[in-house]
Amino acid sequence: MDRIAITGGMRLEGVIPIGGAKNSAIKLMAASLLTDEALRLTNMPRLADTRFLGRLLRRLGAEVTESDGPDGPETVLRTAEILSAIAPYDLVRQMRASFNVLGPLLARTGQAKVSLPGGCTIGARPVDLHLRALEALGARIDLHEGYVYAQAPRGLKGGEIEFPFVSVGATEHALLAAVLADGETIITNAACEPEIGDLADCLNKMGAQVSGMGTSTLRIKGVSRLGGATHAVIPDRIETGTYALAAAMAGGEVRLTNTRSDLIEALLDKMVEAGVEVARHDDGVTVKRNSGRLRAVEVETDPYPGFATDLQAQFMALMTVADGESVIRETIFENRFMHAPELGRLGADISVSGGEARVRGVEALEGAQVMATDLRASVSLVIAGLAARGETMVNRVYHLDRGFERLEEKLGACGAVIRRIVGDGEMED
Ligand code: UD1
Repeated sequence: MDRIAITGGMRLEGVIPIGGAKNSAIKLMAASLLTDEALRLTNMPRLADTRFLGRLLRRLGAEVTESDGPDGPETVLRTAEILSAIAPYDLVRQMRASFNVLGPLLARTGQAKVSLPGGCTIGARPVDLHLRALEALGARIDLHEGYVYAQAPRGLKGGEIEFPFVSVGATEHALLAAVLADGETIITNAACEPEIGDLADCLNKMGAQVSGMGTSTLRIKGVSRLGGATHAVIPDRIETGTYALAAAMAGGEVRLTNTRSDLIEALLDKMVEAGVEVARHDDGVTVKRNSGRLRAVEVETDPYPGFATDLQAQFMALMTVADGESVIRETIFENRFMHAPELGRLGADISVSGGEARVRGVEALEGAQVMATDLRASVSLVIAGLAARGETMVNRVYHLDRGFERLEEKLGACGAVIRRIVGDGEMED
């Protein structure tokens, strides 16, 4: 298994181009199942997660072609015919979001058999809201031996879907199914994440009639068929925020391009409160930090436009060396502090109680061997390593490869001393 070694203490200076959003790209890829025409996605990230999903979509009958077009990396997906409406366990378990093929398969063919995604290290992450949404559209759902069997032999019918709390995945799933349902669907308490707006925009280009994007009520007038389209994936706000935090941690000045500062306003506000300088531009944001300690600030994760749970671990890394005590509350996932003990190995002083972490800033971190536990947690260890004295070795970086494209190259180009040590294929435990 690969590892990443970082020698801390280098300031970062330069430009980092941001890629397309992973969390948008994978839902847009699933949307391609809704039509027999070609969906061309530009500004595509090239990540382990998009590769996993490509493999699953091919199994279902899609042709998936990746190339470097005039607008950067693109993927063309075309499913002339669904060859199989079965998404097997071995493919779904690798990435939870693969579960979102259920809705499109059901909408297009009237039936689907999709493996339950199983547990995940950042909490239980059930799919009950996804299934309830599909039932509200008239699907019959049965669970057997770890699989969801869904049927709608006479097609899905528009309906009212009221979520008891905000779920990004369930909102997207409801949208992916409702666009081809007969009649109108109203989704209330919908998630407002920008990736949902991106999915709805793409579906509308394909001929869907979705309105209410960016609000908590989505209205979908079902259509009988969708066609092909070309769509540019929105910038990855989590990658943007992660490099903004990396620059703040290491010190220096980094310009993040090909992105949008409005996607990370809640984070930028907190960074300014902590003492980081931030300048917004048309194509992104510049983050600057001179020497001297930052101030400890409090943070609570919330659905968009609140502070993103996917940036919580990285923000905690920054707070480990701030002046004072920072309280970080996680309200989205119940077990999302696994990075805290790993940051502790680098000398951070963190105590966790339930959904709250108290981070008492220390003068400096010291490099050590650490273990990546999930996608965002692993990058928080890289950020911490940028400022730690000596060498930090992040083990199990396959988590990182799921969501960060050419991370070593992007940080290295700004002066970070970071290298990948390619593993011999052996497991570490
Ligand atoms: C998505 C993102 C993930 C991000 C999260 C919250 C993708 C691929 N992943 O995950 O990076 O951290 O949004 O912004 O887009 N829940 C239920 N029942 C359900 C569905 C969810 O109880 O049927 C719970 C979850 O356990 C969690 C909360 O709802 O506690 C929010 O989860 P959700 O918004 O659905 O996150 P994901 O879509 O899985």
